[in-house]
Amino acid sequence: MRRLLIAGNWKMHKSHGELRTFVEQLADIVTSKQTHNAKTQTWVAPPATLLDKSHHLFAPLGVEVGAQNVHYASNGAFTGELSLDMIKEAGASFTLVGHSERRQFFGETDPTIAKKVAACQAMAFPVIACIGETLEERNAGRTMDVCGRQLAAILEEAPNSDSLIIAYEPVWAIGTGVNATAQQAQEVHAYIRSRLVARYGETAAHKIRILYGGSVKPANVAELLAQIDVDGALVGGASLEASDFAKLILAANAHS
Ligand code: PGA
Repeated sequence: MRRLLIAGNWKMHKSHGELRTFVEQLADIVTSKQTHNAKTQTWVAPPATLLDKSHHLFAPLGVEVGAQNVHYASNGAFTGELSLDMIKEAGASFTLVGHSERRQFFGETDPTIAKKVAACQAMAFPVIACIGETLEERNAGRTMDVCGRQLAAILEEAPNSDSLIIAYEPVWAIGTGVNATAQQAQEVHAYIRSRLVARYGETAAHKIRILYGGSVKPANVAELLAQIDVDGALVGGASLEASDFAKLILAANAHS
């Protein structure tokens, strides 16, 4: 049985003060037994400026923190970038890579993202690798092609299935309020699972978590989590309000 993962992606939101308030509010609603147990895990990826502090503030609540992005080199002349060692030192215990906003606004490509996954794997560092199609691609019937291509690039550089998590995030569902239906999500997740089986074999592939992301909210999370290949959620907007985020954690607990 795969542990359900509720992962918040705060993107470019929140100050130190807002972080503190969020943690206090969350702690009023959920306990560390609910955020972190044999069947559920809770992660948050704050902006890099808050990593260190959020690591300390979230620890008593059983919430692990991670980075929204990382560079593949261990050091060097890469202005504005952070290495794996740097984010680890700041308290990160996972990282996202290949979020569609990184692909869309910062020109990240499949090969770059694959290099980042490879760097994480070399250090056995947990990585959530994101894939997903645009609306135009879905309407053209190219969802599996696009997701398959993005996934192939990642899997080629990922020899080890242990520290790998895949997030399926249809671009048209991110921040739009229009989520993929549970059936649409399951269809793509099943396809991803089949590709993981081809790469790692049945046993290992069935241990890999596949998260759904894109307008996940308290009202739709239970239905999404009920799908056989949906192993958690990567959440933007609804992770910014402690009360909503708590509802997602409680829904994961109720499901497990
Ligand atoms: P959203 O974002 O939940 O606000 O749609 C999801 C994401 O970008 O990971």
